[in-house]
Amino acid sequence: MAILFNEKAKTFTLHTRNTSYQMKIGSFDYLLHLYYGPCVPDEDMSYQIMEYDRGFSGNPYESRNARTFSLDAQPQEFTTYRQGDFRISSIEVINGDGSYCYHGKPVDYKISQGKYKLDTLPCVFASETDTVHTLEVTLCDAASNLKVILLYSVFEEADIITRSVKVLNAGDKAVHLKKIMSVCLDFLNGANLDLVSLPGRYGQERQVERQPMTHHIHSIGSIRGSSSHQQNPFVILCDREATEDYGWCYGFSLMYSGNFLAEAELDQYDQLRLVMGINPNSFLYELKPGGTFEGPEVVMAFTCRGFTALSHIYHDFYRTNLCRSKFVGEVKRPVLINSWEAAFMNFDDVKLVEIAKAAKNMGVDLLVMDDGWFGKRDDDNSGLGDWYVNENKIKCGLHRLVEQINALDMKFGIWFEPEMVSEDSDLYRAHPDWAMEIPGRHGVRSRNQLALDMSRRDVQDYLIEKINAILDDANIYYVKWDINRSLADIWSNSLPAGNQGEVCHRYILGLYRVMDEIILTHPHILFEGCSGGGGRFDPAMLSYYPQYWVSDNNNPIDRLKLHYGTSFVYPTCTMGAHISDSGRFVPLETKAVVAMCGTFGYELDATHLSKKEQKLCKKQSDLFRKYYHITFWGDFYRLTDPFKAGNMTAWQHVTKDKKESLLSVVVTSLTCNGPQEYIKAKGLDPKAMYSLNGSRELRSGSALMNAGIPINREVPEYSAFQFHLVKAD
Ligand code: DGJ
Repeated sequence: MAILFNEKAKTFTLHTRNTSYQMKIGSFDYLLHLYYGPCVPDEDMSYQIMEYDRGFSGNPYESRNARTFSLDAQPQEFTTYRQGDFRISSIEVINGDGSYCYHGKPVDYKISQGKYKLDTLPCVFASETDTVHTLEVTLCDAASNLKVILLYSVFEEADIITRSVKVLNAGDKAVHLKKIMSVCLDFLNGANLDLVSLPGRYGQERQVERQPMTHHIHSIGSIRGSSSHQQNPFVILCDREATEDYGWCYGFSLMYSGNFLAEAELDQYDQLRLVMGINPNSFLYELKPGGTFEGPEVVMAFTCRGFTALSHIYHDFYRTNLCRSKFVGEVKRPVLINSWEAAFMNFDDVKLVEIAKAAKNMGVDLLVMDDGWFGKRDDDNSGLGDWYVNENKIKCGLHRLVEQINALDMKFGIWFEPEMVSEDSDLYRAHPDWAMEIPGRHGVRSRNQLALDMSRRDVQDYLIEKINAILDDANIYYVKWDINRSLADIWSNSLPAGNQGEVCHRYILGLYRVMDEIILTHPHILFEGCSGGGGRFDPAMLSYYPQYWVSDNNNPIDRLKLHYGTSFVYPTCTMGAHISDSGRFVPLETKAVVAMCGTFGYELDATHLSKKEQKLCKKQSDLFRKYYHITFWGDFYRLTDPFKAGNMTAWQHVTKDKKESLLSVVVTSLTCNGPQEYIKAKGLDPKAMYSLNGSRELRSGSALMNAGIPINREVPEYSAFQFHLVKAD
């Protein structure tokens, strides 16, 4: 059994294959956190907790004259609020009597088989072969009767523990939630920990930063209405010495696409607390008597074997337990060509068919008609919201256009930006109150478009009806779902003034409902997420879309960093990557090597390519298909760090059985008459012999991993190499 309750010690112990997690109903019935790390037997780990008289750290009333138990110093599984613990909190609540406090103690628990579900938010799921158990621990504040239910699901083989939280107002007065975090994890000694995060910006998403924990609150989050380009809802806490191959690493990945927050605080005693959940900024949620609230899920993983092992845990899990689309495993992803960088909004049906014909010679399977096909949309100042075909551009109609593409034996894809509206649109003229604008104030301009109030049922229903009508009218194989601005004017005309603090969360709930009704009702369509590049690349989105556009930045040299950072948590099969005209001095071959670390496609005017270039592209598309089982399903290794000085960036995919591998190298700069460089492979069978790119001369896995492969330095800058390693029989 993966979850055990020891009646005598009052400990709950959660076991995965390689990790253990423990909490205990401890002194004065507080739920204390005791341990998360490598497997330990079911022993009571509370021997580690020392109780001292800590000056200026108060003691709860129940401890009477004993001054040695302070909530300010004890490790908590979920914190109280304003009860003498002055560190960052799990919850902040305004009670019905106007008081600001929460004092929850465990009153009940339940252990069951299978994975818990959330009614309002996406979650990971258990597959048929997974062994999963769930623990629910209910805390109750005796004075207010506000209950907090802590949820844990333990995925034994995957080494994953998910956590979430539900709040139930069992009292007789309305309360207001100001903050509710899905996870709280206390470390008895955190002075030697680093925090790794994935900050970025438009065009440079998910770069990697590492900071040592010091005595203040480190916070990472978004208040942009979406998980954002600027931060990603994923953090790692790791040993100061941790590397790709060694060291303790804890991962926290939040299944939420809106405002989020991760906070880490090293306290006065060098203990560390990490909390993660919905960002409390501009958040105030009313819970009437009987009302419930769900916090998003956090997917946690631990390994003592460094960043690569942590990434492998997430990659394996997110490949199989996140998205139910048949395009995850059953059906292979197509090689696509997208019209955006080929023509922007300046196209018509004839142009699209011309691009498709040229792309056919390049081994492309799918033509995607990007922004510009609907309403009045010749630039980005108008048209959003009017989801009907612009027949000045698509003169033959959508049906006929799709038929022409299908006649080339190619599939057809289409772009939407459902959550937005242009002021110059029929939709805005008919329903100005559907846009998010604060009454009496001017709205913030961003790409000259406004956000639709996704919290409104009528807005949701409009989008579901209009988009489904298009999808059901023609033979659509693929949809790119975009969003191109942050939320600034937080207001809903459908909510009373006192409930405006609910708008951002309700927006996300509304969005998930729309996605349920469009995406889940079209299981035969491949959906790709996009947010002005990769601004909402998060696991909740990936539970709907098997793939997500990494960035609008298609420069292959910048992409090395983008793919590197993204790979810390998200597998190759989720990363939308295309070859475009960007990176003028980078050869087409190199662009292809980089795009093969992703879903592979093109984003250029294929009609401008020469026959020779088209032939080369065909070869590359075929290679992508040839290596698909390695790149999509193999283990991924970051062989070099592109953020550090060096002449080469290298990465590798290895099949689970170690029989095949694809090792890729891009020469990013060349030092004149410089030293010979070697790339050391990883993940191979050290005893096996491998052929390199079909050569008869074999090399042992051990030699390839310990001595490495010499990279020919007499090549032009930005050259790339791919080594296909095949284990000899
Ligand atoms: C932003 C996306 O990232 C681009 O790929 C493109 O679809 C444009 N939006 C279209 O407006």
